[in-house]
Amino acid sequence: MKNTAEKNAGSFGSRIGFVLAAAGSAVGLGNIWRFPYLAAKYGGGIFLLVYLVFTVTFGFALMLTEIAIGRRTGKSVIEAYSTVHHKFRPLGWLAAAIPVIILPYYCVIGGWVLKYLTDFCIGAGEAAADNGTYFSNFIGHAGIPTLFFVIYVLATAAIVILGVQKGIEKMSKIMMPILLVLIVGIAIYTLTLPGAMEGLLYYVKPDFSAFSMKTVVAAVGQLFYSMSLAMGIMITYGSYMRKEDSIESSVRQIEVFDTVVAFLAGLIIVPAVFVFSGGDESALNSGPSLMFVTLPNVFASMAGGQIIGIIFFLLVALAALTSSISLMETVVSIIQEKFHWGRVPSCLLVTGFSLLIGMLSIFGYSIWSDFTIFGKQLLDFFDYISNSIMMPIVALFTCILIGFVAKTTYIESEIERNEKFRAKGLYRIMIKYICPICMLLILFSALFMDL
Ligand code: PHE
Repeated sequence: MKNTAEKNAGSFGSRIGFVLAAAGSAVGLGNIWRFPYLAAKYGGGIFLLVYLVFTVTFGFALMLTEIAIGRRTGKSVIEAYSTVHHKFRPLGWLAAAIPVIILPYYCVIGGWVLKYLTDFCIGAGEAAADNGTYFSNFIGHAGIPTLFFVIYVLATAAIVILGVQKGIEKMSKIMMPILLVLIVGIAIYTLTLPGAMEGLLYYVKPDFSAFSMKTVVAAVGQLFYSMSLAMGIMITYGSYMRKEDSIESSVRQIEVFDTVVAFLAGLIIVPAVFVFSGGDESALNSGPSLMFVTLPNVFASMAGGQIIGIIFFLLVALAALTSSISLMETVVSIIQEKFHWGRVPSCLLVTGFSLLIGMLSIFGYSIWSDFTIFGKQLLDFFDYISNSIMMPIVALFTCILIGFVAKTTYIESEIERNEKFRAKGLYRIMIKYICPICMLLILFSALFMDL
């Protein structure tokens, strides 16, 4: 209780507010441009099944751990890790570096989404329906991407600066229900298109021949990214959680929200692309080209495509915004704690930093496009190093810290403050054995396998 009273200025006011904010972080571009593609590629229903099993076991255990560390210590990421064990302070630093790297380039992509939303709103969306020239011209010149990037960063900052309750919680309570309604709406519409049923079947029917170790690695990797794990976000949000609320059921609800949105995104994208391409599976690709090239083509070929385009990009913008808010909040909380600064100056510093560093990614696609690191352009490099290398390392050592150093009772006692920990047995096995093995697998595959 003491902790709640002390931190009242920076606490969530309700359990639903916390759940929606955390779900807002989890639901993001990954749900929309990566999940559907992976599901279609790695065996449809069988991928969905594997993903689901990992969500309720592996994802559950990791998210629960982070939220409990946050709430128990009441600190932001660096201090939280060193409070659990002083030797793990470097792990806190590593975890803290991840949102610092991701935030600027995530906002660059957020800017692209705003640009496409604007295009569809002013009736210029059709121009994007070509073989990708429109998109490469757009990102190939720094000017317009910079404009939308700046707008996007300022929109994120405007919410974060208002604080946890008045900014993040309030906006999540508005944006997340809208997002859900929009996604259900377009899913129903696309499923009524002629030929959509075949695409739906392709998406949900298990194809056992496509099942391999890669299915497992892809599912774990996606889950981990999708739930915003291993970068201090859930620790930060956990530190704002009220002591009287249940962590276990909150995590279950966040999981359901994240998985339902990912599933629905697939329900829209797989059948729509299928219909558009006349059943050609190879039309379904991941990443920017799916969102900014394939889908505008699909919308252009649909009746009412402009409206669908507007709704779709609005939905993506909401999903991205609630994620970038969580990234910025995490970085702001680190600055607040390290420098003992107030929210406003911390937020201004982080905004300035994001604007500056984000420009690197913008230039990486335009005036510096010849410059690559390990064959990757700047944005892709930032993405690779943070998601595929740093995050699995942080998660692995978090499991070691909780499983073997501080012991699982550190987390269990926080969960059991106000309820019975129903999945305790499962939790112990996951944190001590299964999660670390999965993390090693992911790390290994990022380094040596091409997924
Ligand atoms: N969880 C988000 C998604 O699924 C991704 C994300 C990564 C969000 C990093 C915030 C920070 O897209």
